[in-house]
Amino acid sequence: MKEEKYQYCIQTIKGLVADEKNLIANLANICAVLHESFPFLWTGFYLVEADELILGPFQGPLACTRIKKGKGVCGSSWQQDKILVVPNVHEFPGHIACSSKSNSEIVLPVHNDTNVIAVLDIDSEEHNAFDEIDVKNLQEIVEILEKNLESPS
Ligand code: SME
Repeated sequence: MKEEKYQYCIQTIKGLVADEKNLIANLANICAVLHESFPFLWTGFYLVEADELILGPFQGPLACTRIKKGKGVCGSSWQQDKILVVPNVHEFPGHIACSSKSNSEIVLPVHNDTNVIAVLDIDSEEHNAFDEIDVKNLQEIVEILEKNLESPS
């Protein structure tokens, strides 16, 4: 069920980014496709700017606008250049609670040729909402985005 929903998202996102090179437009539509397909609380991107992450396109409740490198789940994923799956955000040291409803979270770094340029952050009201199926498929979505960054027109 989850896998099938992701396959729909992946096909849709492939089509969207193939036709559009604008980064913000693509990030916005990726959030929309994912957020409409799953019962996520918050689905969005933070964009790297100097030593901070700045809030980018998202769907869901309002969120904090700036996160320092190494802070929270997002800043840690950026610093470590690593996908972070957090089954219980209340047990993650330094977690930044944008919404009191969030209980679990997944964050994936997005790269250009050399650096992390953004993170994809998804929050759920469920504890332990994200598993290896989410990791695999969200990673594929991030890779589609990354390939699109490599060939600007
Ligand atoms: N919880 C994140 C902050 C961003 S919000 O979840 C939208 C963190 O700890 O980095």
